Amino acid sequence: MCGIIGYIGSRDATPILLESLKKLEYRGYDSSGVAVLDHHPHLIVRKSKGKIKNLEELLCTKPVPFSNLGVSHTRWATHGLPCDENAHPHTDNAHRIAVVHNGIIENYAQLKEKLKRQDCHFVSQTDTEVIAHLISVLYKGDLKTAVYKAIAQLKGAFAIGVISKDHPDLLVAARVGSPLIIGLGDKENYIASDVPAILDRTRRVIYLKDGQVAFLSKDKVEVFTFEGKKVTPKIDTVSFSIGSAQKDGYDHFMLKEIHEQPQVLSAMLKYRLPKGKLKLEGLTVSDEILNSIKKITIVACGTAYHAGLVGKYIIEDMARLMTEVDTSSEFRYRKPIVDKNTLIIAVSQSGETADTLAAVREAKAQGAKVVSICNVIGSSLARESDGVLYTHAGPEIGVASTKAYTAQLMMFYLLGLKLAHTRHAVTPARLKRLVKDLQNIPYLYKGLLKKRSMILKIAEANSHFGCFLYLGRNINYPTALEGALKLKEISYIPAEGYAAGEMKHGPIALIDEYRAVVCVALQSHVYEKMISNIQEIRARKGNVIAIATEGDKEIAHHAHYVIDIPAVEELLTPLLAIIPLQLIAYYIAVKRGNDVDQPRNLAKSVTVE
Ligand code: F6R
Repeated sequence: MCGIIGYIGSRDATPILLESLKKLEYRGYDSSGVAVLDHHPHLIVRKSKGKIKNLEELLCTKPVPFSNLGVSHTRWATHGLPCDENAHPHTDNAHRIAVVHNGIIENYAQLKEKLKRQDCHFVSQTDTEVIAHLISVLYKGDLKTAVYKAIAQLKGAFAIGVISKDHPDLLVAARVGSPLIIGLGDKENYIASDVPAILDRTRRVIYLKDGQVAFLSKDKVEVFTFEGKKVTPKIDTVSFSIGSAQKDGYDHFMLKEIHEQPQVLSAMLKYRLPKGKLKLEGLTVSDEILNSIKKITIVACGTAYHAGLVGKYIIEDMARLMTEVDTSSEFRYRKPIVDKNTLIIAVSQSGETADTLAAVREAKAQGAKVVSICNVIGSSLARESDGVLYTHAGPEIGVASTKAYTAQLMMFYLLGLKLAHTRHAVTPARLKRLVKDLQNIPYLYKGLLKKRSMILKIAEANSHFGCFLYLGRNINYPTALEGALKLKEISYIPAEGYAAGEMKHGPIALIDEYRAVVCVALQSHVYEKMISNIQEIRARKGNVIAIATEGDKEIAHHAHYVIDIPAVEELLTPLLAIIPLQLIAYYIAVKRGNDVDQPRNLAKSVTVE
């Protein structure tokens, strides 16, 4: 994680760096810093614990001089507590070299010991500081050579930006495993972790590849391999724009994004199902291949993994095609069985999640085709996949994913329709009905969101509980997992999601009058089973909040609170059942006074293992 930005040109670097850094805050926000050169030249560094606004305040009280060169960083701690000392940029003891870094240096402990023996004095607990010292001890007047020699000794993942007081006309960048792009301006150039950081300054970008190093001056960008071979990089012109990320009167981005879901799904359906005709532009996998594949493996992390779990139910139901789901971090290390008859579907909002990218590379190396379901246009995942199905949900700023999740679900339904049709797995009549029902979902959302004041009351009445369980069955088992994840990440209340049938195998021991249990108990072929599970909870004094189907008269006899959602075919219920769970998590977190959009310890994009 962490966000990097660097500038070289003729304008004052600091305001440019800060503006761009704010667009990278989704990558981490526990501390930030900036290093620029003054005219002596000296390296001037300012760092501050906490959000970027703290750095801005520091720069007001301790301003830095006008400078044409600088690097800046927003951190998500991996090695060492979030504090001023551990914030980037890091420098060597002579204060000659400043480094910003995204990634993890796996051999930092060995390097640190070696550097200490060479009289390097460390001031932080970070892995990054070794890079600054290493470049410094290898420096003999030529920064480029010193960086080459240093990166040859680094193991792990890194994207780095390096400046030196001896080289006021040089910004160095290098990457392995962590994203880094170069923005080409008019007599000025940039490095950044991500395109949106520089999009309002330039649209011409170079996506630096693993094993490449770049030397930037204000007029020139040169790219080499780590072995020193010059390469001619491809220059892309970014055509997408980042919508303005405003709260539009909502208290938080998360609440705004929850309310955007009807528009997001409606726009998706308009684009992907015009007049009921499926248009999966970007899929690029031929019908012949879709017919011949024997298995689908879905890889993803966190909320996207939960979308993948729902995807399994959808694909197996609609297309009768064996589908497995794995968290990317497990898949990449477990000797997965994948071959040319396997279709990999990688799901990711950001398209930059390190484990998902690694899983995709592993699968491709074994001959599988990869299609990604991705929100961020031009992201690493989109570029590395054979096909990409963009969800076009717009920028998701709240760290807790909401609209990206329902857009991922919708994409699975659309993909399910495609596979079912191609593989002749369902009757035309059922396909037609599913299309019609899907098209109705955005209208149902609008009604559901109108129940927010009732959901607010229920959330507030239950916000004192110190532990929550979420139970669901069948296709709403993943809904329970996702509801629990939402609650724990923004309210910090321990919450677990379970398949309701598993309750008797352990979790029931948790139930007493101090627990709240959210049960997804919709009219379905497992309804009676859910009711029995609710009875078991009530018998142990647990407090039950039921998500039920509109018109269900019986459920009120079993649950303390009922939130009902419109009746739809069971297969489509995850699209609706998650909405009250998102709102419950949101209102409980607000009631507890938490920072809903930037919860502690998290970052929007997880670019480290
Ligand atoms: C939870 C959440 C995370 C992400 C996960 C994967 O609300 O946002 O669990 O879903 O880090 O991120 P992407 O989808 O960007 O790969």
